[in-house]
Amino acid sequence: MKLQYHIKMIQQQQYQGFVTFGGAFSNHLAASAAAAEQFGIAATAYVRADSLDQQNPTLQYCMARGMKLIATDRPTYRQRQQPDYLQLLAKRHPDCLIIPEGGSSSAGVRGVASLDLSATPAGPANVVACATASGGTLAGLITAGAQHHKPETIPLTLGLAVVNDSSLSERVSSLLAGSAEKSANWRIVATAPDVRYARCPAEHVDFCCQFALKHNIALEPVYTGRALYKLYQMIAAGDFTAGSRLSFFHTGGLQGLAGLYYRQLINQQQYQLLSAAAVG
Ligand SMILES: Cc1ncc(COP(=O)(O)O)c(C=O)c1O
Repeated sequence: MKLQYHIKMIQQQQYQGFVTFGGAFSNHLAASAAAAEQFGIAATAYVRADSLDQQNPTLQYCMARGMKLIATDRPTYRQRQQPDYLQLLAKRHPDCLIIPEGGSSSAGVRGVASLDLSATPAGPANVVACATASGGTLAGLITAGAQHHKPETIPLTLGLAVVNDSSLSERVSSLLAGSAEKSANWRIVATAPDVRYARCPAEHVDFCCQFALKHNIALEPVYTGRALYKLYQMIAAGDFTAGSRLSFFHTGGLQGLAGLYYRQLINQQQYQLLSAAAVG
C-alpha cells in the first residue's frame, strides 16, 4: 500500500532498485523485501543495528528475498532524513530510488489514500483510527477522508501513536498535500506515553491474546495491539459519543511476532496463540 507508488516510480523512471531504512525487526523492511522480490527489483536496506544478527527472523526473511542489508550504527542511522546524508546515499547508490523509513513519503501517502476505510457494517464511520509511527499511514487516511467525503461527513482520523516522538504531528502535517487535507479533522493520541516503543508490557500482550481468543484475529503488541488497546480504553472512558461508529485499520505487522518470540518479549504459548489466529 505505502509501497505501490514507489514501485511504479521505479518501473516508470527506470531506476535499478531502491534503498530504504528500518530497524532490525521492521515490518517495512520485510514488506519492501517481499515487494522487491515480487517485482524483480534490487533492494538495499540500512538496518539500525551494529551488526546483522543472522538468527533474526525478519533479517532472515529479507535476506532470503535477496535484499542487501547494511548494518548502521545509531548515530549514522539518525541522519536518515538529513539532506547531506541523503545526498551521500544518492551518490553511493546511483539509479536507486531512496524510500524513507516506513515508506512514509508523498508516494506512500498516495498509496494509503487510495483506500477508503470509512464504511462500517453499521454505517459510515465517524472515526477512522490506525497505529502511527512514521506518520505515512495516518497522512494517507486523512487524505482519503478529505478526498472521498463531503466536508460535512469527513470522519475524524485518529493516529494512535506507538512511538513517543514529539515531531510526529509536524511530520504528518508536512506529508499532507492539499489545503483540504491540511484542514481536515485529525488528531494524534499517545497510546502509552510511559512505555517505550516495542517494549510490549503485559497488558498489551494479554490484550492481543484475549482478542485472538475472542475474535480469532491476530494482533501484535508493538503496533496494532498497542493501538487497539488504547482505542478500547478511550471507548471505556467515554471519549466518543454514544452511537459513534469506529473503523480501525489493521495494518498487519504479524511477521513481527516471530521477532518478539525470538527476543522473548512474548512466550511460546502466546506466540503459538497469536500465530494460529494469524492464519486462522
Ligand atoms: C504493523 C504496523 N502498523 C502501523 C505502522 C505505522 O505506520 P506509519 O509508520 O505509516 O505511521 C507500522 C509502521 O511500521 C507498522 O509496522
